[in-house]
Amino acid sequence: APSTDLQAEDATIAQGVVESNHAGFTGRGFVNYDNVAGSYVEFTINAPTAGNYEVKFRFANGTAVDRPLNVAVNGGAATGVGFPGTGAWTTWAEKSLTVPLIAGANKLRATASTANGGPNLDRIST
Ligand code: GCU
Ligand code: CA
Ligand code: CA
Repeated sequence: APSTDLQAEDATIAQGVVESNHAGFTGRGFVNYDNVAGSYVEFTINAPTAGNYEVKFRFANGTAVDRPLNVAVNGGAATGVGFPGTGAWTTWAEKSLTVPLIAGANKLRATASTANGGPNLDRIST
């Protein structure tokens, strides 16, 4: 199937801001999570059919400390995903996770689980 990009800057953002001051992002920018636990970005993913889908998170983390996110789909159980340092805020990497989706609209919420907040998040791709 063709891949679909969903830009973080177009998603629902709680305790975060859209910025564009670190090069290498796609779209109009990226989300800078506030550096608090509980900050989140929530995407709506439309799936043609129910099943397990690989979701790739494009991110940067210019620190040496992991910035884990709890990823939950449709309010279900969260999966902790690590987003380790990428070396610089302008160095972007991808991290994959497989999630179960229902046919139609799904809500995928990626919530910072430490006081450092999340990584800078550019987009997800499915
Ligand atoms: C810096 C950087 C931000 C980043 C922040 C952080 O301020 O410019 O893009 O989000 O560090 O540590 O989370
Ligand atoms: Ca931040
Ligand atoms: Ca983006």
